[in-house]
Amino acid sequence: MSDAAKTALLSVADLGVRFDGERSVNALNGVSFELAQGEVLGLLGESGSGKSVTLRALLRLHDPRRTTQTGRISVEGADVMALEGRALERYRGGVASMIFQEPGLAFDPVYTIGAQIAETVRAHEPGDARAARARALEMLDLVQIPQARRRYDAYPFEMSGGMRQRAMIALALACKPRLLLADEPTSQLDRESAAAVIGLIQAANRDSGITALVVTHDPAVGAAFGRTVTIRDGRVGAEGRAGEEFVVVGRDGTVQLPPDTLDVLPPRSLARAVRTAHGVELRPVSPEQE
Ligand SMILES: Nc1ncnc2c1ncn2[C@@H]1O[C@H](COP(=O)(O)OP(=O)(O)O)[C@@H](O)[C@H]1O
Ligand SMILES: [Mg+2]
Repeated sequence: MSDAAKTALLSVADLGVRFDGERSVNALNGVSFELAQGEVLGLLGESGSGKSVTLRALLRLHDPRRTTQTGRISVEGADVMALEGRALERYRGGVASMIFQEPGLAFDPVYTIGAQIAETVRAHEPGDARAARARALEMLDLVQIPQARRRYDAYPFEMSGGMRQRAMIALALACKPRLLLADEPTSQLDRESAAAVIGLIQAANRDSGITALVVTHDPAVGAAFGRTVTIRDGRVGAEGRAGEEFVVVGRDGTVQLPPDTLDVLPPRSLARAVRTAHGVELRPVSPEQE
């Protein structure tokens, strides 16, 4: 791999998120990690460990009136913490975009799927309504929605969960972002749809070189991607796929990556993803083995 390909696309340093309220909650305390350009990383963690808070922080989605966010986030060298106004809007969806856990929530129920994808395209790119429609159709095709033309005019409730999740991936990829954040993208899906979604993320990485951070609580899903790190609140532990890589999580939730884990492993085939999604065993690695 060339040196350019190893440049960090995403760099997170000492990221902290505190929710201020009657009782303030320190959800993240100094999380640090990097993603190389073109890398797919699985972020594993139990429920409540801070996975969604991390992803939302990366898109600056936390309400600043109720949240204190500290640390540094850099995407393609840009200081994400400093983005404001139009620059922040351009960043969201244009540079980094998110696939949410519940596809039903990502779409507005009163507009068609196609119209919502086209609207996103128009918000980010020059071009008229026709060009936006063409791009939306192209994206629905890309995520292998059968009869994309007909589905363009479907409302979210007219689609199955698996189809909606594909449509959300189409929405997330529509403006050709360089960083894809996926929050438990398979947890609401049956096995077959889950495997398809994993395959689509892998294909976007392979074909467009997109960098992706895929959050999951399911080690088998994490194992479908090249490298996984674990986020775990309040416990020192390390886990990884059988000797390939591991991460030490501090008592304060800090994620520390050994520097040599930034090498991208070969992309896995969908067939392998399906296999691993059915019963991979994770061997815990104790910190002493580092
Ligand atoms: N808006 C919020 N206000 C207060 N606490 C929150 C908020 N969002 C998340 N939390 C807390 O932060 C912690 C991490 O949550 P989250 O990132 O959603 O976990 P998960 O790893 O399951 O995605 C949890 O303890 C959760 O209760
Ligand atoms: Mg979550």
